[in-house]
Amino acid sequence: MTTIAIVSQKGGSGKTTLAVNLAAVAEAAGQVTLIIDTDPQATASQWGSWRSERAPEVIDSAPPRIQHKVDQAKAQGATFVVIDTPPHADSAASRAVEAADLVLIPCRPSAFDLAAIKTTISLVRLFDKPAFVVFTAGPPHAARMYEEAAELVRSFGIKACPQILPDRAVYRHASAAGASVIEFEPDGKAAAEITALYMWSTAHVTMSTRALMAE
Ligand SMILES: Nc1ncnc2c1ncn2[C@@H]1O[C@H](COP(=O)(O)OP(=O)(O)OP(=O)(O)O)[C@@H](O)[C@H]1O
Ligand SMILES: [Mg+2]
Repeated sequence: MTTIAIVSQKGGSGKTTLAVNLAAVAEAAGQVTLIIDTDPQATASQWGSWRSERAPEVIDSAPPRIQHKVDQAKAQGATFVVIDTPPHADSAASRAVEAADLVLIPCRPSAFDLAAIKTTISLVRLFDKPAFVVFTAGPPHAARMYEEAAELVRSFGIKACPQILPDRAVYRHASAAGASVIEFEPDGKAAAEITALYMWSTAHVTMSTRALMAE
């Protein structure tokens, strides 16, 4: 089973958008998928309730119960778990990172947002988990800007994910309809981008697991 924690202390960086859309792609790819919402704002749970019975399932969790819920999901046959977390440094983010195989840190590619991810990077370091910054909601055509942002991220001692999720209005439209972008606009650019991020994430987890087993 793969567990991915979506963590950023910065509010509105795209955590919930990434969490629900990544989970929806996983589900469509045949994974038995669960979203664990650890945010008291309960945004992912709200999305889940708008979908009523449609997978992926969203459950909530208090921070101390996160690991237990991940173990329970595994025992019940889940193959892919995404943990959405609240902004601000708190125990939900720590417990989510602790339970994860891979940590994704969504971040807008602006100077203020980039400066703010340092706190999140320190948290991830404490647990020594593989972690990548995912650029979200920036301009779609700005290769140079993303290169510079990735360079800055590297200088903080962490890598940027090669897949980015640029600003696409379909994220807002899909969420408001309790849908994911792959359901709302299956042939759109956002669907292709989040699918590429899913493929990259699963490949990364498989590779790190193999490397660990070879040690
Ligand atoms: N790639 C994107 N393209 C367009 N809009 C986006 C994108 N990512 C996020 N958004 C929008 O940005 C806003 C904030 O996103 P979201 O709620 O996912 O952030 P968050 O990090 O979960 O916020 P919080 O810290 O409050 O939990 C939402 O309106 C969402 O639709
Ligand atoms: Mg959120």
